[in-house]
Amino acid sequence: MKVNETKKQILKALRECGGYLSGETLSNQLGTSRVSIWKHIRSLKEDGYVIEASPRGYRLVSSPDLMLPYEFPGLEQRIHYFSEIGSTMDAARELAKRGTGEGTIVISEAQTRGRGRLSREWLSPEGGIYFTLVLRPKISPAYASRINLMVSVAVAATIRKLFRLKAELKWPNDVLIEGRKVCGILAEMDAEMDVVNFVNVGIGINANTSIPQFEKTVTSLKGALGREISRKEFLSALLMEIERQQPLLMKADLLEEWKKLSVTLNKHVRIVAPGEVIVGRAIDIDTTGALIIKERNGSLKKAMAGDCIHLREEVPNTDIGAVSRQ
Ligand code: BTN
Repeated sequence: MKVNETKKQILKALRECGGYLSGETLSNQLGTSRVSIWKHIRSLKEDGYVIEASPRGYRLVSSPDLMLPYEFPGLEQRIHYFSEIGSTMDAARELAKRGTGEGTIVISEAQTRGRGRLSREWLSPEGGIYFTLVLRPKISPAYASRINLMVSVAVAATIRKLFRLKAELKWPNDVLIEGRKVCGILAEMDAEMDVVNFVNVGIGINANTSIPQFEKTVTSLKGALGREISRKEFLSALLMEIERQQPLLMKADLLEEWKKLSVTLNKHVRIVAPGEVIVGRAIDIDTTGALIIKERNGSLKKAMAGDCIHLREEVPNTDIGAVSRQ
């Protein structure tokens, strides 16, 4: 969906006024005909905006809880909005390949082929928040995983700030509430040996999604709070938080922040990484975001990527019992 400048200006004027604005005032302010104002108001109503029309003029009664570009003043031109799409990752990749700027955001209300990490499916029904952010960081590709850390810190910080819920982080980049996953992050990079062209970060948040009772490893913001949230307010706050965190990308503070929020550190873990399985105690992360694991024999191993399973207690490498999977 393309941002329509007239619709954007009408909404801005109605919001600023807070009451009634006549068609004539709007048409003078925007330098367009009253018929055009009427047509664009009709189109806004079709988008879900409730606009009262009376002899006193037009009044904005309410806005829909959709993540329409008009709901993010100042960012409208960066947002590509879909009511449904295969995956925001695919659309963002296309845009990034064609040279779209840093900070481009692809948002969809639902996805039909949402992708998770490790080639898993990411169920994306309406009510969730699904978006991909295009970043062009000036860093070595070796440090690209720090972007996942940064975004996961931003998501946890936003949940904590807005809802006072104790959001925590599970390596590599899951956000949990009471041990259940509420948000997943998927990053795709396009790079040469030492230059990053773009990193697209896909963020999926179970916001107002209903999670079946039998599902013990997943939650939603609605489930944790017992009420629906305003997705556009959450997304707006999250985008601001990501912007605030961005200058910290290569700073030690980012790692410190991540460690404070981490539920993986000091846990016994099984990491199923490409080509190997590592079992031991997670003791730290390094500057590239790799997890450092101390094996039972005392040797240190690093995991750059993979599936992380928190074990309830220390178990021998061969024991596959006592596992808590998230
Ligand atoms: C994970 O496996 O934990 C990562 C899930 C990432 C899902 C998001 S939703 C928005 C973006 N589009 C996708 O297809 N995937 C990511």
